[in-house]
Amino acid sequence: MYSTPFIDVPPLVTAGGTIQLPGSKSISNRVLLLAALANGQTTIHDLLESDDTRVMLEALKTLGCAIERTQTGALEVTGIGANPVVEKADLFLGNAGTAMRPLAAALALIASTQGREFTLSGIARMHERPIKDLAEALMQLGCPVDYLGQPGFPPLRVGDGHTHTLRLSEPIHVRGDVSSQFLTALLLALPLVAHEDITIEVVGELISKPYIAITIGMLAQFGVRVRQDGWTKFTIPAGSRYQSPGDVHVEGDASSASYFIALGAIAPARPGATPVTIRGIGLNALQGDIRFVDAARAMGADVSGNDRELVVKRGAWPLKAIDLDCNHIPDAAMTLAVMAMYAEGTTTLRNIASWRVKETDRLAAMATELRKLGAAVDEGPDYLSVTPPTVWRQATIETYDDHRMAMCLSLAAFNPAGQSVRILDPKCVAKTFPDYFEQLFSMVEAQTIPVLCIDGPTASGKGTLSTQVAKALGYHWLDSGALYRLIGLAAERAGLSTETEALASPDSAARVAACCADWDVQFDGEQIWLNGEDVSLEIRTSEAGLRASRVSALPEVRAALLEAQRQFAKLPGLVADGRDMGTTVFPSAPLKVFLTASAEARAQRRHKQLISMGISATLDNLLADLRERDARDQSRTASPMQAAKDAVPLDNTELGIEDSVSTVLGWWNRATGFNAS
Ligand code: DC
Repeated sequence: MYSTPFIDVPPLVTAGGTIQLPGSKSISNRVLLLAALANGQTTIHDLLESDDTRVMLEALKTLGCAIERTQTGALEVTGIGANPVVEKADLFLGNAGTAMRPLAAALALIASTQGREFTLSGIARMHERPIKDLAEALMQLGCPVDYLGQPGFPPLRVGDGHTHTLRLSEPIHVRGDVSSQFLTALLLALPLVAHEDITIEVVGELISKPYIAITIGMLAQFGVRVRQDGWTKFTIPAGSRYQSPGDVHVEGDASSASYFIALGAIAPARPGATPVTIRGIGLNALQGDIRFVDAARAMGADVSGNDRELVVKRGAWPLKAIDLDCNHIPDAAMTLAVMAMYAEGTTTLRNIASWRVKETDRLAAMATELRKLGAAVDEGPDYLSVTPPTVWRQATIETYDDHRMAMCLSLAAFNPAGQSVRILDPKCVAKTFPDYFEQLFSMVEAQTIPVLCIDGPTASGKGTLSTQVAKALGYHWLDSGALYRLIGLAAERAGLSTETEALASPDSAARVAACCADWDVQFDGEQIWLNGEDVSLEIRTSEAGLRASRVSALPEVRAALLEAQRQFAKLPGLVADGRDMGTTVFPSAPLKVFLTASAEARAQRRHKQLISMGISATLDNLLADLRERDARDQSRTASPMQAAKDAVPLDNTELGIEDSVSTVLGWWNRATGFNAS
């Protein structure tokens, strides 16, 4: 997961390959609650691991539910039925509506029938999301419900420590036109107290019906058969009781699938790869958002599949504009708004007022962000019309702590203008799809991979600077010096001499160079393995440095490592550390920094570094070593140490690391066009 302040998605050109979807958020949180409320043990497979399921799991544990992970990664939940172990609890539910609403309902009933008391709270945005209609339905039933903040919104207290008789014989009225989660919450909770038939009547037009269908389907899986009279009246039969079905498999998330369906529809096929294939969900999925497939097809996507996977290719191009009532696919419809950017004409998405009460006001957010990219957008009270840009602009996209804003807007990187897209706070995807960006990057190809080169003499601090810059940008990191140190070590291990005289013969130079042909090198941050052995410390000694300096002077070695180094350039980008990064390895990199510092300052830094690693060294020796290496590195014929012509010098003798990092990040913003941020 990227926890950087932003992630830059460079211009993308093709897509292909397979993605395994994370489990459905709606199904995951419903299954967790049902398993907790049921008799018996439930083994849940393919549960989504995300912020929203984490808060639900924590809440259930707080209530005394035993939850164990099996060896295969499934979760074993031992139901507590209507008997939580605790008398009182304060539950924090983040920004998870799928946890807040059903738990509020279930705990209100439990608290009232058993004289208990629970509070439910979340992050600030959760406290702006309505719950009044549900709270009122619970109050009608006779449950004490108190607003602890703004009336009509969480945080809530349910129950007051005393028992209350519930009024179950009258139909319970609940509004259906604000959030279908209110009805879902009642449907999930009421079987706990179904000593008699309980009827729920929906007031107003019921939105998001497919989510209710999921709820009803899952109740049936846990042994409760709801009688349904259209979409207005639901009856839970007397004597209903949750019984665990044993094993439950969670379907892949249909809303998450929408980004990859859109990807297949927008992107030309990646040469040599299979078409975009989405595993974990089929055309007959339970989740209503699977109907996104119809909308995507209407826009021109070529979608095929079976009951386990979908395969998506570009069909009509440009995409076709549509005018669609999206009430049945509220979440996935956000992805249509971004597909509309690639359509001919104006696309209108209607009946999406529920967007306003989601993680953020999605109507306003989407309009604002699409306009930044150059689209003409008409934001109505319950609709959005999108006309694609005539001129695409590079944009910094706000995500409003809304996972779907981040995910769908990343697809703007396929814009024909070749503009990169900056997504702020990319970690917000953790709500439903923690490794969304990693998965996206594994399937797409960029026009070019952005590379930032940091060159400079040994011990100039380029290792520290380049790792920190890479970390700040969420980029990969190439420590090219380590590769030369590794090849020196590999040569030693192979019994080859790396003394200057020995290396003078072309034969032995070729033998040293050949050491990297079949080695197994693994990098994990600053930890490095050579043929399965952790050599992180061994390659940092002064001796290893001198050896690297000698072997790196061989043109044979440099040629052998060239391609290996270029392989490090992967999405979303690379910070390449080492002296010829900007001259030979990545000559067209948009930014090359040449870092310098006085020999004394460098010797002191290296001294500190070695001591901290437990390697003894004296300052005088290090200074002498450095001067010797500088002289050799500058005078040698193969890649002498010199700045690329277009490199920007940075003397950091007097600069702290934070200042150096922010200077380089400022230059990078300028080089990549993100001046304003
Ligand atoms: O940066 P360092 O001290 O880890 O580098 C080890 C040696 O490898 C050093 O003498 C410079 C050489 N080197 C090189 O020739 N080309 C590079 N791209 C990186 C390092």
